[in-house]
Parts: sequence; structure tokens; C-alpha cells
Amino acid sequence: MGTALITGATSGLGLEFAWQLATARHNLVLVARDAPRLEALAGQLRAAAGVEVEVLPADLADREQVEAVAERLRRIEPHPVGLLVNNAGFGLGTAFRDSEIADQERGLDVMVRAVLVLSHAAVGQMTARGHGAILNVSSIAALTAGGTYSAHKAWVRTFTEGLAAELKDTGVSATVITPGLVRTEFHDRAGIDFDSTPEALWLRPERVVSEALAAVRRGAVIHTPSKRYRVVAGTVRTLPRSAVRAFERVRPDR
Ligand SMILES: NC(=O)c1ccc[n+]([C@@H]2O[C@H](COP(=O)([O-])OP(=O)(O)OC[C@H]3O[C@@H](n4cnc5c(N)ncnc54)[C@H](OP(=O)(O)O)[C@@H]3O)[C@@H](O)[C@H]2O)c1
Repeated sequence: MGTALITGATSGLGLEFAWQLATARHNLVLVARDAPRLEALAGQLRAAAGVEVEVLPADLADREQVEAVAERLRRIEPHPVGLLVNNAGFGLGTAFRDSEIADQERGLDVMVRAVLVLSHAAVGQMTARGHGAILNVSSIAALTAGGTYSAHKAWVRTFTEGLAAELKDTGVSATVITPGLVRTEFHDRAGIDFDSTPEALWLRPERVVSEALAAVRRGAVIHTPSKRYRVVAGTVRTLPRSAVRAFERVRPDR
């Protein structure tokens, strides 16, 4: 997979992708907004794993800054990016009617538009070389009716499936993961209280990331980390959509 570019590398799943990929001897390009945190991480990764790490601070809600990341994906120096991990994302933590439209647009820009633009840049460079992989982070929420977040994650899943079909036999793969609840900064940042959620429903980032990278290596298109969430996903798929919508109305975090 060569050099990997990871968005949202400062915390949670992105941070874990950085560590697991560096440990597997991949050079890295790290993208997120918090430049000091990215620099500190890059120093730790260089020292611990001996890999090359580029730091590319960017707000993926900003079109010019997304373009700077796309430009890095098109460039093949100092190394071509062989794996793009579209991971950055966040929850708004408010009902649609109570939210600010500017916040909604930021969500769409980071979790949909940036994924679209960065995938396009990566696909051009990778298909020209006949080699590469794109890994997109969706969510089990793609199967539910949890507002615009579910809609964004459903877009990511469907987009990746279409991309995988289009890229068949090009040497470039597209994989999407649909994790359930993972212990990261996500819920605190969104101000969502998940304290009463049973411990058994929480996944560790280490497990989600190792399963995601294994899915990329075997060329899987869709992967739901952990057996328990594969059972959840299989069950939700069998429910009538009216039952899925009814669950949204009684959800404890609403
Ligand atoms: N945690 C879960 O339960 C869960 C479940 C399913 C799917 N996911 C998905 O997993 C992905 C990673 O989330 P996480 O759980 O690891 O959350 P996290 O710990 O909050 O990490 C989110 C990352 O995204 C970056 N980010 C946020 N807004 C950004 C922006 N405008 N521009 C650039 N980077 C931005 C953050 O970095 P900066 O603040 O430095 O920019 C941070 O590195 C997300 O796509 C999320 O939807 C999470």
C-alpha cells in the first residue's frame, strides 16, 4: 500500500490508523485541523517506527484546504500515496430543526464533499499507476434513520460500492467500513451522552482499525468490524423501514 494519507489523524480511529500503518512500515501523510497535535504525533511516529511522516494541516470544510490535500494526492513526489483513508468526521449532536445550517453544511463538506474530492484525486493518480486502495469510514448509522449523519454515512457506503465496481480490474480497490460504537473523542466532541450505553456495545479503535486494514488487504468492499455488529447490521437489514424510523423516535440520546 506504500504511503498512506489519513484524514482525521489527530484522534480516535485516525490516530490508530496512523500507528498501525506506521508499525507496518508505511510512510504517512497526516491530515486534520489541529497542527500542533499533528506535529507532535508525527514526531512520535518517526521516533518509534522510523517512517517518513508528512504533516498537512487542513480544515476539510474549507474548499481551498481540501484542494491542497487533493493536490498532494495527485503528486507522486516525494512518494505517491498508495492508500487514502477518508476517516475525518464528527457528529452534530443536535436535531436537524435545532441546528445551525452552517454546522450542517460543515458536516456535509467534511463527511461527503471531502470524501468525493479526495477520492477523485486519488483514483486518477492510482489508476495511472495501476495500483492503490481507498478506505472510507462510514458507520452502522448508514443503516438507520439518524438524521443527516446517517444520510452522509449512507452516501459514503453507496459511493464506495459504486467506486469498487467501477475500479474492478484496474489494480485499485475501494473499501468501506461501517463500525458501530467506538471509544474515541467522537461522542464528547458532539456533546452526546452515551454513559448508559452497555459496555458490550463499545468497540476499541485497535480492533476496528486492524479489521479495516485486513479488509483492504483482502480486497473486501464492505466490512462491519466485530461479529456482534455484523449481527446488529444483519438484523437491521431485515426490519421494515417503519420499525427503523420508530427506533429513532424513542432513542435515549434524542
Ligand atoms: N466513534 C464512533 O462510535 C464511530 C462509529 C462509526 C463511525 N465513526 C466515524 O469514524 C470516523 C472517525 O471518528 P472518531 O470516532 O475517530 O472521532 P474523533 O476521535 O472525534 O476523531 C475525529 C477526527 O476527525 C478530524 N476532523 C474533524 N473535523 C475535521 C475537519 N473539519 N477537517 C479535518 N479534520 C477534521 C479530527 O481532527 P481535528 O479536530 O484536529 O481536525 C479528528 O482527528 C468519523 O468519520 C466518524 O463518523 C465513528
